[in-house]
Amino acid sequence: MIITVTLNPALDKSARVNMVRPNALNRLHDITQDAGGKGINVSAMIRSLGGESIALGFSGGSTGEELQSLVAKKGLQYDFVHIAGVTRTNLKIMSDDRLLTEFNEPGPTILSCEWHELEQKLLGHGTRGNTIVLSGSLPLGLGKDTYKKISVILRKAGAAVFLDTDGEALKQAIDSGPEGIPDYIKPNRYELLRYFGVASDGIVAETKLVELCHTLIGRGIKLVALSLGRVGAIFVSKKGVWRSAGISVPVRSTVGAGDSMTGALVYGFEQGLGEEQCFALATAASAGASATEGNNPPLRTLVDSLLTQTRIEKIG
Ligand SMILES: Nc1ncnc2c1ncn2[C@@H]1O[C@H](COP(=O)(O)OP(=O)(O)OP(=O)(O)O)[C@@H](O)[C@H]1O
Ligand SMILES: [Mg+2]
Repeated sequence: MIITVTLNPALDKSARVNMVRPNALNRLHDITQDAGGKGINVSAMIRSLGGESIALGFSGGSTGEELQSLVAKKGLQYDFVHIAGVTRTNLKIMSDDRLLTEFNEPGPTILSCEWHELEQKLLGHGTRGNTIVLSGSLPLGLGKDTYKKISVILRKAGAAVFLDTDGEALKQAIDSGPEGIPDYIKPNRYELLRYFGVASDGIVAETKLVELCHTLIGRGIKLVALSLGRVGAIFVSKKGVWRSAGISVPVRSTVGAGDSMTGALVYGFEQGLGEEQCFALATAASAGASATEGNNPPLRTLVDSLLTQTRIEKIG
């Protein structure tokens, strides 16, 4: 079974406005709500491909209720810990000239008893053969070593850990040594370079990126899926290096493209697909997500048609 974890989910409220005017009243229209959160996106991708997962996380207040009903509407299995705080609302405003303005709340502070409850749920699922996907930023109240600590426990119990986060939380997990290092990671270019303290504003040769990924493999990570936006991705494992060319699609929203890549990878692993098949599926799914409105996953039919356009090359 695949378990996804979203520690700081949000009720995403999207609206349209003619144009965003500061210091003035902006009248919103076409207001819609969706469940926001990277783990939830991963679960939605898995479902779209025909798989199953359970989405874990925190939810509180009336926005938390709304979040859960939206997750249920997506047809996802979920098991949230109810918290005293209130699930955040993130506002995304699209103007007629297609410029997106976002207002994100920090989200509630998680109490130690609430974290303990979630940890117990995770331990219940963290058995051999299960994959736990830890995605996104950490909420207030939880230390930057949270993913590291949970990764140590889950890996000891025999579960596989897929971590998709950034900054200090990623650094602490990777630097935790053999017992806590995640099995799989999916950094984008910026996240990988940030971890190594390399400036990300200039050109970095592909050979350098591969070298950095190899360093991580040397520390015990089984697969680094380095996503490169529309250019595609590089996959590095002990067995080799693969380049997957980006697929040209009419882009509607790249929000959650990385989560779709993660979802397709874990689904592929669970189905027992070969490495190259997993990488092709991940590339097709994430390109499909880019061609799909909002943070919705692409339909399986779209993924299947894009699969015919994937080009995976073993380069090392
Ligand atoms: N414009 C695009 N056209 C085609 N495919 C895309 C495009 N943008 C992203 N993708 C696909 O999605 C994958 C993940 O994208 P990206 O590298 O932007 O992830 P990310 O920065 O982690 O995104 P997220 O916001 O979900 O965290 C890419 O490797 C690629 O396969
Ligand atoms: Mg990402």
